[in-house]
Amino acid sequence: MTTLLDEGALTAARAWCAGAPVEVHEKLGSTNDRVAELAAAGAPEGTLVIAREQTAGRGRRGRTWASPRGGLYFSFLLRPSPESLQGPPATLVAGLALCQALEGLTPPDARPQLKWPNDVLIRGRKVSGILGEMSLVDGSNCLILGLGINVEAVELPSELREIATHLEEVGATPTRAQVLSAFFLAFGAWHTRLSDAAGRTSLLEEAAVRMPNLGQPIRLRLPNEVVEGVFAGLNPSGGLLLTRADGSQRAYLAGEVESARTA
Ligand code: BTN
Repeated sequence: MTTLLDEGALTAARAWCAGAPVEVHEKLGSTNDRVAELAAAGAPEGTLVIAREQTAGRGRRGRTWASPRGGLYFSFLLRPSPESLQGPPATLVAGLALCQALEGLTPPDARPQLKWPNDVLIRGRKVSGILGEMSLVDGSNCLILGLGINVEAVELPSELREIATHLEEVGATPTRAQVLSAFFLAFGAWHTRLSDAAGRTSLLEEAAVRMPNLGQPIRLRLPNEVVEGVFAGLNPSGGLLLTRADGSQRAYLAGEVESARTA
């Protein structure tokens, strides 16, 4: 795998943000940080930064994101309207788009799954994480979506070896350029469809069917408590609907899902 970019395929896949600039770096601190700099300087929606390696990759909840060579790390800018922020979160859209992209690039016994809210797993292990960072710049919303995808075999920190995987390990050897183009093709299609209610409903259905534990008992780990119930589906905002033992139902917008199935 030698190239990060097949410019023609990527341009076609990103027709929804035609003309937005693309930067490719061998090594960068964090692609999210670089997009934030460009956003502050007025960069348009779709501005994309790709790196082969990150020295200060960031994950959710203040974690670091190990970013050695062998992975694909990229971030891009959205400038969402206030109305679009009412619908499913862009991180969920990105997670679904990545699942769909990888479905065309992985063998049948290595189907990607979407672990709510937006981790992509293969065979129960994490192959990609997504970080969404929202800010207000000069009075307009800026949302930066950053994706880290484990593509080739890499030396992972010991604490990640049991819970992470990479595409090569599951028998998939796409180029980074193929992954990138397939992702943007799927993301762009949803981006266009999300302006109507039917598109939003379809997105939630497509996302839910790819979620492990749907319809099953789960534990949802929240910052100060753990709640248990059946994962009943997604609400219109992409929140997880949990049905408790007493039949009541509540939606959660964040949390860590664990299976509560007894063997
Ligand atoms: C997670 O914790 O699961 C989210 C990980 C997100 C990592 C990506 S790699 C590209 C972009 N740049 C960063 O610093 N983080 C995101």
